[in-house]
Amino acid sequence: MCGIVGYIGKNPAVPVLLNGLKKLEYRGYDSAGVAVIDGGKLVLNRSVGKLHMLEGKINGYVHNGTIGIGHTRWATHGRPSDNNSHPHTDCTGKIAAVHNGIIENYLELKEWLEKEGHVFSSETDTEVLPHLVEQFYQGDLFEAVKQMTAKLRGSYATVVLAEDNPDTLVAARKDNPLIVGIGDGEYFFASDIPAVISYTRKIIVLEDGEIAVLTREGVTIYQDGRQVEKEIQTITWDTKAAEKGGYPHFMIKEICEQPRALRDTLSGRIAPDYSGVDLKEFNLTTEDVKKFRKVAIVACGTAYHAGIVGKYAMEKMLRLPVEVDIASEFRYRDPLIDSDTLVVIISQSGETADTLAALRLAKEKDARVVAITNVVGSSIAREADHVIYTWAGPEIAVASTKAYITQLIGIYLLTLFLGKHLGTIKPDEVSQILHYIYRLPNQAQEVLDTLNEQLDRMATVFKKWEDTFFVGRGLDYAVAMEGSLKLKEISYVHAEAYAAGELKHGTLALIVKDVPVLALCTQDDVFEKTVSNIKEIKAREAHVIGVAFQGNKEIHKVVDEVVYIPETLPLLAPVLTVIPLQMLAYYAAAHRNCDVDQPRNLAKSVTVE
Ligand code: F6R
Repeated sequence: MCGIVGYIGKNPAVPVLLNGLKKLEYRGYDSAGVAVIDGGKLVLNRSVGKLHMLEGKINGYVHNGTIGIGHTRWATHGRPSDNNSHPHTDCTGKIAAVHNGIIENYLELKEWLEKEGHVFSSETDTEVLPHLVEQFYQGDLFEAVKQMTAKLRGSYATVVLAEDNPDTLVAARKDNPLIVGIGDGEYFFASDIPAVISYTRKIIVLEDGEIAVLTREGVTIYQDGRQVEKEIQTITWDTKAAEKGGYPHFMIKEICEQPRALRDTLSGRIAPDYSGVDLKEFNLTTEDVKKFRKVAIVACGTAYHAGIVGKYAMEKMLRLPVEVDIASEFRYRDPLIDSDTLVVIISQSGETADTLAALRLAKEKDARVVAITNVVGSSIAREADHVIYTWAGPEIAVASTKAYITQLIGIYLLTLFLGKHLGTIKPDEVSQILHYIYRLPNQAQEVLDTLNEQLDRMATVFKKWEDTFFVGRGLDYAVAMEGSLKLKEISYVHAEAYAAGELKHGTLALIVKDVPVLALCTQDDVFEKTVSNIKEIKAREAHVIGVAFQGNKEIHKVVDEVVYIPETLPLLAPVLTVIPLQMLAYYAAAHRNCDVDQPRNLAKSVTVE
């Protein structure tokens, strides 16, 4: 997502900051800025757009200041603009801060700070940070940052610079990465290693709750107010590998980022007492919601597969008819929608041509349009009546992974929001589901930590075959579709997804000895039915891999091997079951030496029909 660089040393800071930010461009951004202390004054330069726009603004003027902070911003709170770009400053313009993450309680803090006389000038959550430092600053920057962090809820990596402290940078982190680079008489902060690797290979990784102080003499790190000793690591990767955080491909990096993406997407959206969802950005009233007679979900590709999960979840919980359409079909079939229809548009990029056209058609027909999208300020975000942003961060690999999983969260939150207004979900059910949703980020991490080797090995079975099958019932079928798309798009192994009960109506003819079949078995109400279908498949001697919850005692009796995932509600299973399927596809593609991040014939954002 956003990129941070901080520098203190013997060289002019601006070129170092710009160079570092360029190395973080792969993270995606829509504006950039730097602040340095030059001639005793804090000087700020910020610009919407790419780094060359910022360089144009700085206009060749080489600041001599040898301390500064820089940032590339990927818009979350507030559209991309000069004014919303980081660094943000306090009322005096003497304290500047850059920040990655989301400050969940920023509205509350802003209100308090405004009462204290602070004046805000941006739409961002970040701007509360320099104002908080200003509020607490009494000559000791470390103390002020420490007091600031005590006020924050949410996630942050932040670096603060103050005109009155021209020899100090202070940084803090929680749930967002930040490293310290240790050079020869110069020190760095960065959100990722590529930003510093051309200056130093010695780094310290900051942990949650730590505050680091850089001076011209060195670095000191504190946890709970006490100084801590940290290990200095030496980076041996080459520069290119460093952009991928040491991972061989962006896709696997993005798969591994999913716990963080889930956490960010949930951030601030679950009421602290689990009584409901808080979709601040969403101003639908109970009266609006009660008017809806049906829901139409429209999307393409992976986002369409998320929509199918939406159909199962919404029909079950809202008792409203839900149609799911592929956008390129929807727009040409004269769909039956009107002002009593809620149209849910799902799109990672927010720019997919067919999906955008579907949105426009829905609006022409007076439907109410909610977009679930990952890109702030995208066409779909701008044109929809309401937006639920997924905070997956920029997705670089063509194959969508972390965007899908956060789209599922967007769907669940929307469903709970609507269900509460409609009265179709009881309060204790809402609370139970939210408790389980809250556990998903850690469970996703558990899947990544425990299944890696097993899936790498299984991929060697899948990679050898030209045809493979993914089966399941209900929500498992929805995930089977996504699993099969992942495998075919990056490994070029043909994969078909089938509703398990449908196999014997034709496809069973293709099931032969040893052909790999992945069977998802997480839906309790149809478990026995799925087992019967697995037996039909096993009778043809296929190689069946089951995906089931850890507590399932039956599944191993009917399949060749089981991938166990942590227990959650069957309703939420797609969030966890899709991860092993993504990993399986990834390893199959890697073993076949495919171009994992840029598969043949495909583009990341499909802006043509
Ligand atoms: C597959 C994939 C695509 C996209 C589809 C829609 O891995 O990424 O199928 O899901 O092109 O793109 P967005 O979500 O940007 O509208």
